Amino acid sequence: MCGIVAYVGDRTAYPILIKGLQRLEYRGYDSAGIALFNSGIHVYKCKGKVKDLQALARDEDVGGSVGMGHTRWATHGEPSDANAHPHRSMHGTFHVVHNGIIENYVHLKKELMNRGYVFYTDTDTEVLANLIEDVYREQEVDAELATRLALTRVVGAYGLVILCEEEPGRLIAARKGSPLVIGIGEHEYFLASDAMPIIEYTDRVVYMNDEEVAVITSESLDLKDLYNDVKTPDIKTIQLHIDSIDKGNYAHFMLKEIHEQAHSVTDTFRGRIAMDESKIFLGGILDVMPRLIEARRIIIVACGTSWHAALVGEYLFEEYARLPVEVEYASEFRYRNPIVDKDDLVIAISQSGETADTLAAIRLVKESGATILGICNVAGSSISRETDAGVYTHAGIEIGVASTKAFTSQITVLAMMAFLLGNKRQALSVEEYRVLIRELTRVPALIAEILAGEEKIREIAALYKEVTNALFLGRGILFPVALEGALKLKEISYIHAEGYPAAEMKHGPIALIDETMPVFVLATSDKLYEKVVSNIQEVKTRKGKVIAVATRGNTDIYKLADHVIEIPPCHEALSPLLAILPWQLLAYHVAVMRGCNVDQPRNLAKSVTVE
Ligand code: F6R
Repeated sequence: MCGIVAYVGDRTAYPILIKGLQRLEYRGYDSAGIALFNSGIHVYKCKGKVKDLQALARDEDVGGSVGMGHTRWATHGEPSDANAHPHRSMHGTFHVVHNGIIENYVHLKKELMNRGYVFYTDTDTEVLANLIEDVYREQEVDAELATRLALTRVVGAYGLVILCEEEPGRLIAARKGSPLVIGIGEHEYFLASDAMPIIEYTDRVVYMNDEEVAVITSESLDLKDLYNDVKTPDIKTIQLHIDSIDKGNYAHFMLKEIHEQAHSVTDTFRGRIAMDESKIFLGGILDVMPRLIEARRIIIVACGTSWHAALVGEYLFEEYARLPVEVEYASEFRYRNPIVDKDDLVIAISQSGETADTLAAIRLVKESGATILGICNVAGSSISRETDAGVYTHAGIEIGVASTKAFTSQITVLAMMAFLLGNKRQALSVEEYRVLIRELTRVPALIAEILAGEEKIREIAALYKEVTNALFLGRGILFPVALEGALKLKEISYIHAEGYPAAEMKHGPIALIDETMPVFVLATSDKLYEKVVSNIQEVKTRKGKVIAVATRGNTDIYKLADHVIEIPPCHEALSPLLAILPWQLLAYHVAVMRGCNVDQPRNLAKSVTVE
């Protein structure tokens, strides 16, 4: 949510900043801006995308080897040229780019107005710029101390980069709640909201911690906390490669990521399943395994698509490890007074590892003594660092705002954890355990088979692209897949869609069904199949259109449904990994046919670092 990039070194900053902003555009794309130190600070910013910013700066002198850029996802103040970042303090001493929300900005703004400050934007960030300037002028301290002092007065979240007109050649950065990564090169440093803009130049990074402030020149990196305690930068090596952030021959990142799933699921279990398929090794949770075996309950916290994966996890842990599970929206959990103790296992699921609510939820339970695990995709992310242990999904970078391959990799990790715990807790026999593992290793080939049938799904998409409402139904372990199918459709095509457990339809949604309502039903051959057939009958009786995902070989379903998408047979435990694929492709093609911007849907951003 909002992307920040900054550079200090020997090279010209502008092209590095522009390329960095393009790589970060998935975090926010309603306005963009840069500030460059080039005999004084020069700012170019506008409403719109990075390409609009490039057009604005085309004929300008964009020299200078120190600068910062921002791509915005609006919180305070509508998208406009004025509200775009960087923001300038009233006297022009400071320029600031910011990701996060300053919660007490109204109070601070009033105070600054009483002291003569005039505001030109609706943003909370301008308040920060003026607050730092006020401390700088009043207390006659340097920019770093002014930043630290000002930030002790701020309530809220920030990832910040600051340029001070009177201190050329240096960047000041600060973090609380919103991620910032520092890239270390030869006589140069990079700063960004995530590693994407950095990996082209260096693999050596430092993840800033909350309440840290960095002062960076081309030759030095000084790190402190807000209270002046010096910190030693913890330099890590990152394993990301530049080709993984290229669309290749695909029209959109989302389509590329959908098609990557045979590989990404393999990458998730690679090296974690014994060659003879008799054992699962999850190195990241080995140390805490005794506590996991003894756990009395699992609480899973997550948001959005990751929350849907968590619901699949509930079925898996209860069925195969015989452990009770509660699945919580992180945003609700964090504001309750949940009862959690040392016998609980709390699992946070997050693709980005930065979702503010999920992070807050795990912080809330830290004191409870519960074991806290992370299932994250982004290595080094805040959630992965703040949990006791965890399992990375290894899905590869996900850039499309609508999550696809992260979902299937999350389920793969949850399945491995559930099967492993089932084995250790003796809830599964040796043979059942072996069968489940073998079935998991078959999944990538089945995924590839389904994806090869894309054309039929595209044809169905063409028939339903104009609808205004849609219903997605599923039962048992496929109910969360119905929720995920509805989310995919609504978020990228802007069609109103609801996901329901099929049997719940009678308790209200059935009133919506008429001949204009498409009902997308998961009707695979599992233990609830006959029940789902009854639900399909109920839809047909009311003239609804039924589009069913069914197991190959089931010919009866053709007599009931208007359209059938076949998927190969697989173990019920793993059916969500297959059943979601038609809905991902359907949502993609409907959105493309409706002319929607699939990779950057309106109002959304990839990494939700504000609550
Ligand atoms: C939907 C989507 C979101 C995310 C949610 C959580 O396609 O991507 O619903 O799943 O914002 O994000 P993470 O998994 O990064 O915590």
